[in-house]
Amino acid sequence: MQQLVVTGGNRLHGRVSIGGAKNSVLPILAATLLTDDECRIEGVPNLQDVQNMLEILRNLGLDSTFEDGVVTTRVRDEVSSIAPYEHVRKMRASFSVMGPLLAKRGAGEVSIPGGCVIGVRPIDLHIKGLRMMGADIEIAGGFVRAKCRRLRGSTIYLGGNFGSTVLGTANVMSAATLAQGRTIIECAACEPEIQDLAAFLVAMGAKIHGIGSHRIVIEGVKSLTGAKHRLIPDRIEAGTFMVAAAITGGDVTIEGLNIEHMLALTDKLEEAGVIIDAVGSQADQACRVRASGLLRAVNLTTHPYPGFPTDMQAQLMALLSVASGTSVVTEKIYPDRFMHVAEYNRLGAQIRKEGPAAVIEGTPGALSGAPVMASDLRASAGLVLMGLVAKGTTTINRVYHIDRGYEKIDAKLRGLGAHIERRDVPDDFAE
Ligand code: EPZ
Repeated sequence: MQQLVVTGGNRLHGRVSIGGAKNSVLPILAATLLTDDECRIEGVPNLQDVQNMLEILRNLGLDSTFEDGVVTTRVRDEVSSIAPYEHVRKMRASFSVMGPLLAKRGAGEVSIPGGCVIGVRPIDLHIKGLRMMGADIEIAGGFVRAKCRRLRGSTIYLGGNFGSTVLGTANVMSAATLAQGRTIIECAACEPEIQDLAAFLVAMGAKIHGIGSHRIVIEGVKSLTGAKHRLIPDRIEAGTFMVAAAITGGDVTIEGLNIEHMLALTDKLEEAGVIIDAVGSQADQACRVRASGLLRAVNLTTHPYPGFPTDMQAQLMALLSVASGTSVVTEKIYPDRFMHVAEYNRLGAQIRKEGPAAVIEGTPGALSGAPVMASDLRASAGLVLMGLVAKGTTTINRVYHIDRGYEKIDAKLRGLGAHIERRDVPDDFAE
């Protein structure tokens, strides 16, 4: 097992490049099951989640290569359409193979993804959408078994109690590309990653309208071809480095991002007193992030895109723990996504849960290093951010959580002047 050891106090400075979007590449890799031709995806970050997805796809008969950020895929055979528990339990996004399997092969058997520390993670909306397209779906023994000779288009309201579903939209939209007739998805997710998936499907020959809106219309076609696609930048990685610059009072230029995907976040950071200047050209975007004076407390509530992203909630909470004043963070997507509060308080933050919100009594200089435990991907990133500014040393255990979604985060932070190193420890350490 590995741990990250961070010694706080260095102001970050310099330039850092952002990789391709994790939450784009996962449903896009699943969508390569929709064609017998070769696909080529560029700008792919080397993440544990990407490796997991390629392993799942290998079990589903899809050969792939992955080098220098480029993945090529081609379906070798359609013998097995089963995605087993030992893979799916590691990564909920595995369930996004269900729609493509059903549409291309007429059958799919995928383990029900477990919950995780951020919440129950249900799939009822995925099932609802696929059933409305004619799939015969049985849920038993921890598996979802689906079959359908040919899906037929349908008008589907896909919103749930917490708004739209990102991977639910991915599953239904991907399945609809090969269905008979027209499918309308009302209350579709319009996250940039869903728009990126739609662009990939269109490049494969799919007929999709309303991309980026909450109403997506798909005209089914008989087959799809292979395609070449370059991923959009990862807005959550970019946002995490913005917070790293701000929390250390640094001056960092972040390259290769798409600032238009990040307006809810940059708006909130500027409200807190962070200075963000767009630099570079429209084609080759970058932005300079600085924070010199004291940061101000702000209130925030997470919402589906274009609202404030839930995947940046933990990172903002880390920043607000050293701002001046009281902030309130309300989590509307995953009401239980506050597992990081206890670990944050171990570092000297003053945060208390109050119903669906967390109240942060921000105090500059309040943090001091300690051993802490990573719990989920974004909370782990939040702990690293706090370690950058805490007095003394912070040791973050179970670093595998971070490696799922951030490529070489320690090396990138070291490149900006952070005092951070990765250590191997015995597996039973810090149990
Ligand atoms: C995607 O998960 C992301 N993962 C998550 O990022 C992100 O937090 C989430 O969208 C919300 O933006 C990937 O794209 C791989 P949802 P997803 O379905 O699609 C409820 C990260 O850190 N819901 O949009 O699984 C659900 O409980 C990860 O990169 C149902 O009720 O999330 C939640 O409250 C964490 N029924 C809300 O909808 C369903 O069938 C949004 O979930 C599906 C979801």
